[in-house]
Amino acid sequence: MDKVTESAKRKTGRHLISLATVASTNTFTMELADKGAADGTVVIADAQTRGKGRLGRTWISPPGVNIYMSVLLRPVMLLKDGTLLTIMAAVACCRALRDASGLPVAIRWPNDLMVADKKIGGILTETKSRGKRIFFAVIGIGINVNSAREDFPPDVRETATSIKIETEAEHPRPTLIACMLDEIELWYGILFERGRKPLLDEWRKLTSTLGRDVKVTVGKKTSAGVAEDIDDEGMLLLKLPTGRVMRITAGDLMILR
Ligand code: BTN
Repeated sequence: MDKVTESAKRKTGRHLISLATVASTNTFTMELADKGAADGTVVIADAQTRGKGRLGRTWISPPGVNIYMSVLLRPVMLLKDGTLLTIMAAVACCRALRDASGLPVAIRWPNDLMVADKKIGGILTETKSRGKRIFFAVIGIGINVNSAREDFPPDVRETATSIKIETEAEHPRPTLIACMLDEIELWYGILFERGRKPLLDEWRKLTSTLGRDVKVTVGKKTSAGVAEDIDDEGMLLLKLPTGRVMRITAGDLMILR
């Protein structure tokens, strides 16, 4: 394929909006999507004042150091398959961060990006549906790039890390952003051209969760067992001590051993 055709075909990041400060790039992008923004629009902010994490948590988003980015996708997809978009983003970002930083980044189910059991990045997917279909999805990506240990609040200092802390070097954010957008373009394409199997297999290769003794908390309920696999929709299959296999949609996972 020649270059002109290639760039005309590319979607991710063709429309890129860069902001100094925003409440949340996800909220901003959901609003843009409602107004008809194009498939593949990317919003990046230098800082967020109300960054959102999974399960209603806050994502600490100081200026000048990290990546806060949201990608708008308009897939033709059933809502029940929506987790595949998060799986796709986790695979893409994990591979990009490995390539760009050299760190052994791994995925903790469902979509935490980890280095040596500490969280280096997270993904929050928000969707709007029409009937049984996804109308649009916003994939929010937060990567701790150049944060120093003291930039993290005391309660997460032991469980969070950054590329700078791990490599002892500053990393340019634009290079990492470009690598992640390239990988998203690649794996989003693979998902729709070749189906879910190659994507799920790549996730299995990059995860540190499968085969481990884990504890999963869903709401007020905690279950412990062995993380056996993920199914075709990206749900965790947890084998309980009784032998029963529990299918888990979303939750907080802790690796025990
Ligand atoms: C998690 O809790 O692991 C998910 C964190 C996702 C944070 C990113 S930063 C960019 C985007 N905008 C938000 O408000 N949240 C996501």
